[in-house]
Amino acid sequence: MKTHLVTGGAGFIGSNFILYMLSKYKNIKIINVDKLTYAGNLENLNNIKDDPRYIFIQVDICDKEKMECIFKNHSIDYIVNFAAESHVDRSISDPQIFAEVNVLGTLNLLELAKKYWQTNEDEYIDEVKFIQVSTDEVYGTLGETGYFTETTPLDPHSPYSSSKASADLFVKAYFDTYNFPMNITRCSNNYGPFQFPEKLIPLMINNILNHKSLPVYGDGMQVRDWLYVEDHCKAIDMVIDKGVIGEIYNIGGHNEKYNIQIIKDIIYYIKQNVDDKVGEHLITHVRDRKGHDRRYGIDPSKIKNDLGWWPETPFEEGIKRTIKWYLENKEWMKNVTNGEYKNYYQKMYEEK
Ligand code: NAD
Ligand code: TYD
Repeated sequence: MKTHLVTGGAGFIGSNFILYMLSKYKNIKIINVDKLTYAGNLENLNNIKDDPRYIFIQVDICDKEKMECIFKNHSIDYIVNFAAESHVDRSISDPQIFAEVNVLGTLNLLELAKKYWQTNEDEYIDEVKFIQVSTDEVYGTLGETGYFTETTPLDPHSPYSSSKASADLFVKAYFDTYNFPMNITRCSNNYGPFQFPEKLIPLMINNILNHKSLPVYGDGMQVRDWLYVEDHCKAIDMVIDKGVIGEIYNIGGHNEKYNIQIIKDIIYYIKQNVDDKVGEHLITHVRDRKGHDRRYGIDPSKIKNDLGWWPETPFEEGIKRTIKWYLENKEWMKNVTNGEYKNYYQKMYEEK
């Protein structure tokens, strides 16, 4: 039985990943290590909380002693590192924590994994691997044409993407220097169930349902390449299984959309199916994000050709599934939008 240490497993993608893996594999053990920041929510994992294959431990990945206890007490085969501060707007107003968690937290995990996995100089226990879950944002921004490939130079602009790029470079350095077994995945924007409503899609769904204005940064003509979260989980599973050690894999489904178009599509769906009082009058153009990347677009040829991955969920289906999920889980939305989020969102909203 293989043991996966999943960090940040109470967040959006991490919780989807844990649910995906436990439903796909019978013979697996998952240790979820999460600090439970504002973005972590154990409610996401209610369905599997008593599953004997699953353990939750509330720990900060930066905490060396507590993390070392986990390595001592468990024989870990794979580390899948989702834990991060993940929101660009927050990184612009408070960059420090992004360096602490995303860079130093990752370095802490690398050190521990090296210590517990190394059998000899340059040699490691068979079949162990560290998966760094990174982002296409490390490549910076594109013009109207072209795509990010794995060899596109890193050119991050926000404190968030800079911290992710720094972490990637540490992971790569561990491979180059110590022969450390790793893969890095760089995925485009995800959407789906359990995404915290500070990110574009759940924020817009929540605001539309509550007849609140919809803050569009600048002209709304920025392009993101959207991928349904389950397709990302499937890709990570394939990288764990078949990824060649030391390699980087870009993940994306050629699903580029203008922000404004996504917002209009969500309004249209909710107007047709849920509430005919909503409409485009809710759209409010606000001050643009500082250093706002104009366009992201992934070339996923490598993961498609080498590992046989493909995106299964077309955007039109995924976005309907996502809106329906939020409609059926209003209690979840209510719970996560209380407390710290309320103060943060109020402040952000006033700034917008
Ligand atoms: P998220 O913000 O929803 O979740 C992050 C999780 O990490 C939360 O559960 C939080 O409690 C936990 N966490 C934060 N600091 C921690 C710490 N110090 N120790 C332990 N746990 C901590 O983020 P997400 O959207 O699920 O993203 C997960 C990962 O995937 C991130 O590394 C992100 O960079 C990457 N990624 C995200 C996207 C996207 O579109 N959301 C796309 C590509 C890559
Ligand atoms: P976001 O979901 O924060 O993801 P990222 O910045 O990591 O791509 O934002 C997606 C896009 O939507 C980005 O171009 C910024 C824009 N956006 C808005 O226009 N208004 C908003 O309120 C938010 C949160 C994002």
